[in-house]
Amino acid sequence: MKIEFIDKKLKDIQADLELIVVIDKNFEHDLVKEYKDTLESINFGANQDEVTLLAESKKLFVGSNSIYSKDIRPAIASAIRAILGKNYTSIKLATYLSHQKCTATMRALAEAIELGAYEFNKYKSDAKETKLKKVFISSQEYNNKEIDKDAIKRAIDKGVETAKAVNLARDIVNTPPDDFYPKIMAKVAKKVAKQENLECKVLKPKEIKKENMNALLAVARASAHEPRVIHLSYKPKDKKAVVSIIGKGLTYDSGGLSLKPSDFMVTMKSDKSGGAAVIAIMQAVSRLNLPIEVHGFIGAVENMIGGNAYKPDDVLKAKNGTTIEVRNTDAEGRLVLADVLCYAQENVEANYIIDIATLTGACVVGLGNYTVGVMGNSDKAIEKMLYAANVASGEMAAKLPFNRYLKDTLKSKIADISNIANTRYGGAITAGLFLERFINEDNKQKWIHLDIAGPAYVEQAWGENPNGASGAGVRMVTRFIEKLASQTHNQ
Ligand code: BES
Ligand code: ZN
Ligand code: ZN
Repeated sequence: MKIEFIDKKLKDIQADLELIVVIDKNFEHDLVKEYKDTLESINFGANQDEVTLLAESKKLFVGSNSIYSKDIRPAIASAIRAILGKNYTSIKLATYLSHQKCTATMRALAEAIELGAYEFNKYKSDAKETKLKKVFISSQEYNNKEIDKDAIKRAIDKGVETAKAVNLARDIVNTPPDDFYPKIMAKVAKKVAKQENLECKVLKPKEIKKENMNALLAVARASAHEPRVIHLSYKPKDKKAVVSIIGKGLTYDSGGLSLKPSDFMVTMKSDKSGGAAVIAIMQAVSRLNLPIEVHGFIGAVENMIGGNAYKPDDVLKAKNGTTIEVRNTDAEGRLVLADVLCYAQENVEANYIIDIATLTGACVVGLGNYTVGVMGNSDKAIEKMLYAANVASGEMAAKLPFNRYLKDTLKSKIADISNIANTRYGGAITAGLFLERFINEDNKQKWIHLDIAGPAYVEQAWGENPNGASGAGVRMVTRFIEKLASQTHNQ
């Protein structure tokens, strides 16, 4: 699909359909008032994300509560989703600028078109190819103000590239586990590396063993698929800072011997969402040409059962020498991340260390399905991440605070730490505190942990996200890195 910015009035652009965002619920706006009676007669309320198609007039209306990107993004995506199965090949719409230099809405608009047009139907025999091929954005705007057309074009490009990266993460996560195992994760990483000119190093079991990543290897042991540790690097000429991102890439999480009940096992192909986000963010930072050196690390592993499976009661020795008492093999993500966090810190000295993981069901219980849990030791770093998410990217995120009492619940009687807490409560935080044990003293303030268990995979469309994988974490972390590029001066 192609999104094109055209310096023409709407009426001078040829398209199958015109998309109109309705913000004024009284239908008094110039583009809408002609249809006021019709819209009222069909009870169109112009509520946020409410869509109605007037096929004869070739108009597609969608309600939005405001002109701001947080509302425009889900509105436009919902409108696009509503016509995907239909025969329209092109759509036109006007720009929506709240003021002359405000390009945020334009970026959101372009993002929303790409995000809304996403479909995963590789496995449907009767899938129809999407007919929609072109979206024209007219330079005509509401208040006839002068607009900076180059700035708009740049904003649209950024939106498209960010959304394409999100869609890549969605494809990875949606792919069934029999077709997507650690080796395939490495293959996709290599493919993106080749396309984007990134460095890519893949560690196989022998090398992983040499690195003493025994916790990761224990989780991987019962699977028919060997694990991989993947390191992607993007190194621009003039870097302003260095960021490491570490992703949980559980290509399947059966729970291991602490087997998940059937109902909870379905959707666990999504346990690779953190790893998928890492690959996608690497693509995005490269396409956006950001002046930040970014390293992506993925622990790609499958958690299965078998005669050689690791067991509750085992004690594992992680890469940094910490011994871990396994009390539940379903708390496997933290074991994989423990080793990959150590590996990342040993290999790269970064200004920020961000891990992304579908780590706990507790995070979903606490924050609901749509919000990312943000944890760490630095309130300043967490604030930056919350801003990148909630304000800039449109992803929702909230802080979950650490405290020393919860930290104590991870004590083990026979090892340095237990892989589960001795309390039923605060599970997202205790998982975060487990990871904290594997962050070096010098890096404690640089580390941010993102639990994306809620939003990574929802079996129902929401806002700009389709049923299934959402690509959670990609937009917010990309924005975090972008912001760093505009703030940091030669760190
Ligand atoms: N991958 C799961 C967490 C998860 C749950 C992700 C729901 C997405 C949706 C993780 O490995 C897990 O099973 N965690 C356990 C931890 C527990 C045993 C301490 C959980 O949350 O139940
Ligand atoms: Zn698990
Ligand atoms: Zn898991």
